[in-house]
Amino acid sequence: MTTLAVLGGEPVRKELYPVWPVFDERDFEAVAQTIRSRRWGGFPYPGPNTAAFAEKFSEMQGGGYAVPMINGTITMEVALRAAGIGWGDEVIVPAYTFQATAAAPIAAGALPVLVDIHPDNYCADPARIEAAITEKTKAIIVVHLAAQMTDMDAIMDIANQYNLIVIEDSAHAHGAQWRGMGSGTIGDFGSFSLQSSKILTTGEGGVLLCKDKKMAERAASIIDCGRAKDEAGQQFTMGVNYRWSELHAALGLVALERFPEQLAQREGMADYLEESLSEVPGISLLKRDLRHTRRSFYRYVFKIDPGFFHCDHDVFCHALENEGIPVDTGYPPMHQYDLFQPKLSKLAVPMAYPEYFNFEDMCFPVVEKASKEESVWMGESVFRSGEKGVDDLIRGLNKLIANRSELARLAQDKEKEPGY
Ligand SMILES: Cc1ncc(COP(=O)(O)O)c(C=O)c1O
Repeated sequence: MTTLAVLGGEPVRKELYPVWPVFDERDFEAVAQTIRSRRWGGFPYPGPNTAAFAEKFSEMQGGGYAVPMINGTITMEVALRAAGIGWGDEVIVPAYTFQATAAAPIAAGALPVLVDIHPDNYCADPARIEAAITEKTKAIIVVHLAAQMTDMDAIMDIANQYNLIVIEDSAHAHGAQWRGMGSGTIGDFGSFSLQSSKILTTGEGGVLLCKDKKMAERAASIIDCGRAKDEAGQQFTMGVNYRWSELHAALGLVALERFPEQLAQREGMADYLEESLSEVPGISLLKRDLRHTRRSFYRYVFKIDPGFFHCDHDVFCHALENEGIPVDTGYPPMHQYDLFQPKLSKLAVPMAYPEYFNFEDMCFPVVEKASKEESVWMGESVFRSGEKGVDDLIRGLNKLIANRSELARLAQDKEKEPGY
């Protein structure tokens, strides 16, 4: 039995996994051309690169009017504001996601109401969403998390029944499809991040896909200092400058050219991984829903059985990372983010509604289990390193299995060290 790398042994993989983002001569050329054009910024909106990107992006997702802007948080705030949602309104949000999904309703003046996730896919549980609806509920933001998609059939049924706006936070789901429909094109809005870790990236950036043309005009007005965008040129809104720059859009046009091949590669390697991973003891896969017809991989998430490994996922991930495999434990529970604590955050909404931000009263058992015990988030770079990269992950897992008694010891050490 070989010694775990975390205890001083040789790591399973010494070679680094491929870096992200990738670039080639086309990126230099696109940026150089934009510099020469002197159209660097986003004014007047949209510039030629931004307009071309918007057209190609909605074509790739298979629908919607695309409004590019500065990031994938503002996109959600703008969607809410375009739909007239704000003070006094409630917006349902899963309690397992990046803080942006709940920060956006707060920024729009609305109240994010957190709900638990489904253990099969770690996305918002439709039954929990329905149970959280009140007469103040105006919208649902679902998050297509990591490589999963929320059950959009159930979500759209609920939204139609209660007359709610649906925003799909697709920051992790560029290119994904649900029954052949692109993520972000099923609800009223799709929100995409182009931030540097994302699988379609321009460093910073975001795209809001709108089902309705009027909403797209309103969104474009909000991000362009309120300038009218309707045909008559009369529909002004309260807006500020959230425009995307032409330099970012230049990178986006090249990123779109590369994207289909990258998507196919990750998809192919995920199938290869799952063949082996499903056989590894102590590991279980999230459910593969056949209505999720095209999978897109920002991260690949699986579960460990802490009883089998004699440790929770933090010790497990630390040991596996030391073996050279890019994994982490994912998001903490949303209600434990400092941002949402009225005492730590001076944001108006948490201050105004302290009862909604009372952590003691909040309980999301599935989120707690995922974020504190069992979820393992694997970097997409494993899929970009071919079969060898995936095989190394499996070898790393088998090494941890052979060293479970050492993991138990590390878990005990952790108990003695609160700051682990
Ligand atoms: C699920 C989710 N939603 C929204 C965002 C926000 O995107 P941005 O960083 O572009 O504002 C991110 C990540 O950054 C995310 O992971």
